[in-house]
Amino acid sequence: METKGHSRHFNYTDWILTETQFDPDQLHSKETVFTIGNGYLGTRGSFEEGYPHASPATFIHGVYDDVPVMYTELVNCPDWLPLVIIVNGESVSETLRDRFRLDQGVILQYERKLNLSQGIVSRFLRWRSPNGKTIDIYFERFVSFADQHVLAQRCQLTPVDFDGLIEVQGSINGYTENQGFNHWEGLDQGKTEEGIWLQRRTRNSQIELGMAAKMTVFGAEASLQVITTPGYPTLSMTFVAKAQQTVTVEKLVTVFTSRDIETPVAAAQEKLTYLPDYAILLKANKQAWDEVWQQSDILIEGDSTAAFAVRYNLFQLLIAGPRHDEKVSIPAKTLSGFGYRGHIFWDTEIFMLPFFLFTQPAIACNLLSYRWHTLPGARRKAIHYGYKGAMFSWESAVTGDEVTPRWSLPTDFYGEDVRIWCRDREIHINADIPYAVWNYWYATRNDEWMQKYGAEIILDAAIFWGSRVEFNPERQKYEIRGVIGTDEYHEFVHNNTFTNRMVQWHLEKAIAVYDWLAHKYPERARELEEKLQLTSEQQNHWQDIIAKILLFYDPLTELIEQFEGFFQLPDINLADYQGRDRSMQAILGIEKTNKYQVLKQPDVLMLLYLMRESTDFPYSEKALQTNWDYYAPRTDITYGSSLGPAVHAILASDLHISSGAYKLFMQAAMVDLEDNRGNTADGIHGATAGGVWQAVIFGFGGIQLGENRPIANPHLPANWTRLKFKLHWQGLWHDFDLHQEVRAGDNQTRGQPDKENNSSLPTPNIQGVIFDLDGVLTDTAELHYLAWQKLADQEGIPFNRAANEALRGVSRRASLMLIIGDRPYSEAQIQEMMERKNGYYVELLKNITSEDLLPGAIALLDELRQAGIKIAIGSASKNARTAIERLGIADKIDAIADGYSVQKPKPAPDLFLYAANELGIEPAQSVVVEDAAAGVEAALAAGMWAVGIGPVERVGAAHVVLPSLAGVKWADLRKSITEL
Ligand code: BGC
Ligand code: BGC
Repeated sequence: METKGHSRHFNYTDWILTETQFDPDQLHSKETVFTIGNGYLGTRGSFEEGYPHASPATFIHGVYDDVPVMYTELVNCPDWLPLVIIVNGESVSETLRDRFRLDQGVILQYERKLNLSQGIVSRFLRWRSPNGKTIDIYFERFVSFADQHVLAQRCQLTPVDFDGLIEVQGSINGYTENQGFNHWEGLDQGKTEEGIWLQRRTRNSQIELGMAAKMTVFGAEASLQVITTPGYPTLSMTFVAKAQQTVTVEKLVTVFTSRDIETPVAAAQEKLTYLPDYAILLKANKQAWDEVWQQSDILIEGDSTAAFAVRYNLFQLLIAGPRHDEKVSIPAKTLSGFGYRGHIFWDTEIFMLPFFLFTQPAIACNLLSYRWHTLPGARRKAIHYGYKGAMFSWESAVTGDEVTPRWSLPTDFYGEDVRIWCRDREIHINADIPYAVWNYWYATRNDEWMQKYGAEIILDAAIFWGSRVEFNPERQKYEIRGVIGTDEYHEFVHNNTFTNRMVQWHLEKAIAVYDWLAHKYPERARELEEKLQLTSEQQNHWQDIIAKILLFYDPLTELIEQFEGFFQLPDINLADYQGRDRSMQAILGIEKTNKYQVLKQPDVLMLLYLMRESTDFPYSEKALQTNWDYYAPRTDITYGSSLGPAVHAILASDLHISSGAYKLFMQAAMVDLEDNRGNTADGIHGATAGGVWQAVIFGFGGIQLGENRPIANPHLPANWTRLKFKLHWQGLWHDFDLHQEVRAGDNQTRGQPDKENNSSLPTPNIQGVIFDLDGVLTDTAELHYLAWQKLADQEGIPFNRAANEALRGVSRRASLMLIIGDRPYSEAQIQEMMERKNGYYVELLKNITSEDLLPGAIALLDELRQAGIKIAIGSASKNARTAIERLGIADKIDAIADGYSVQKPKPAPDLFLYAANELGIEPAQSVVVEDAAAGVEAALAAGMWAVGIGPVERVGAAHVVLPSLAGVKWADLRKSITEL
């Protein structure tokens, strides 16, 4: 089961994600997180050797097949990952042949990495087999960015304490399925001089796929065997391995489908024959990635978590963006999971497209061309519903026909089927796509594409609106009745302002495009007039709609009504539901949610965001403030739609609510890294990833697309010292290198004053100090030592103070591994021992006294009290309260933030923000005293002053660094901060 809120065991550095521990409960969400891809295919981060209930998948753009209820889905293609390692392969006895798998034997060391700069997933393990043989295993894989049909794996094996036969089996698994549904029929398979191959075809869409693989061993004499299991061709390499000597196995795979070439299997075989070795492929891959990052990277300094998370989201977009195919687009869950079955939503045009448009315009062009190729489907949909023109589908796949499921079917026997109305009513997508087309044209000036593709999309979608609006003679207004706006909590509404205003905007642009075409490409204009039956009457009708479409808003306050009658609905106080872990719809039920003023995601605010560059209705500073104040508190921003937080972050940033903006931004940026919605297992949140890019560029970077070029009006989050990126605009690259203008206590960036932080000008007005406990006020290293000693004694393992030195700063698990050495313990025993040790530690903690306070601690606490400075503890420990009681300082402390207060550990700012909030002071008024690098980082991320205790190597990022608290006077400390 996937559990939310558990530690993800992740470390982030600039380009590298490191997973430090394997947690089977997070198997599926981590498979999503470690997805790699190259714009042609995506492969989930499943293990080479397999794992019970694993969910490996490779999705190739455009390879869809029929499925009941959901119409069509992206097909899980043959799995190219299998690499099975059998230790002690010479034994005839199956029980002595140890097949490497993480649910067998003992994991002595584990580390998995994703290198974003080159799209490489790697894993290092030290594993002890059930029969007691220890081996180091290193895996590496990538899908080439230089040649999209090439996939590569490498595995290095080093026996630690044995010599013996090792067998490595590399396969292509043709038995992949989509959650129990098998889309493939086997055509053929075989072997060549080079290796093995497999030929399969999807059952209904009849897409043929060819995959071929070869394997090479370096560092040992290997004997090769080909195993022709039907549907599962396998190459087996057996060799004698020697202790401490490394053997390397390389597996190269090629893949084609009949979407690319007529004879995919022959193409796969041929490519395999001429493939250079792994090292050369890797180099080409690196070069290709370097070029891409050259254009698309965002550099953030001062906030390593955000810096990594932003790149992670860009990486997800880059691996999903089709680079050589204009008949496919990016599904809501990219190519990384089964969620939404690979269907394509407005997510692509509104959320993901801007990133491509401004950094990889050729991919943006492919994505929009996909909509042109699917116009026939959109026309069929319009006809079906009795309208004219093109009615783009809410969910789309190969043809553009509507593939939103009509029903959501219950899993329990007596549950109700739920009708999904989005297919019939969520029609705003028909203006969203033209909005994206127009923006693409404006940003690239690609007239050639516009006349050939874009104009037809805009015009035919406009024709649809002409037939969809209704004229209300009493009101003398045009209406659009019976829709779902962007907020899907309200399923049948009239005159949704988002939809109506976007339609008005769209029709204005349609007229402009038509004029442009008639002047610049008169022939194409005539062609479209004929094809689409475009008449001057039609255009007059558009003009009339533009003038008379109904929009509900109060011109005095500028408050917009989300739809007709929204303000009459009863209100609900979302604060009453704090601490929930489900959406408001899940809590209240669909019917009830429909009847309240509660939103799944921004709707009026979404409109304000999309119209942010326009001087026309509704965007104005006042409108933004008024509508933000009204709608933000009514929006289910935590569990409603994942599309919400990034948009709210941008608007909050516009409103200079900077810490609020940052919090929302991080909610978006960490959505999959932290699985903060609990559904990362279904695939990457593609729209969120696109929203993150927009939040950095348009929100914090404050980019405005002026008349001639993009201009920055930055308001960087307090802890960001630098933000650097590039934008491609009308044929030129524009570089932005934005810096925080540092003045003490002033988080102002060039340009815009920051409301929230004005109070702390000109010098910091410190109101409170937050102390980390361990290493700052007391030192529990001795207690940890005693607990380990007791455990070791009970187990009869030699251990002493000298051995304990090696455990400083080492995690509980890694410490235990060092202590037990190569003694054979099962995973269950290891877990039990870790718990036992913690039990002893907690017991020991009860015996500490004020004697255990570190020098200088009590004097400083007393001095702060006298100076009227508030004091809090910010400790990640769940035992913090016990420790404070025992240390006898409880009466000197105003607030405690401990291991129960927040979910995200340091370096996330949450714990300190919580502490400041408890003290009732602002982050800029707070000082944090910390002895760990992660803690200093957390303080900076919180926008607080950081005092580091310890060596500069460890806490050098802090504003002030001290060796210890001994002799430290508040007056001096305050002075050093003020003088910064
Ligand atoms: C989403 C809709 C989608 C539907 C069916 C719902 O959860 O909110 O946008 O069309 O699922 O896939
Ligand atoms: C959201 C839609 C979105 C869809 C796919 C739904 O939950 O409400 O706006 O298009 O998910 O991501």
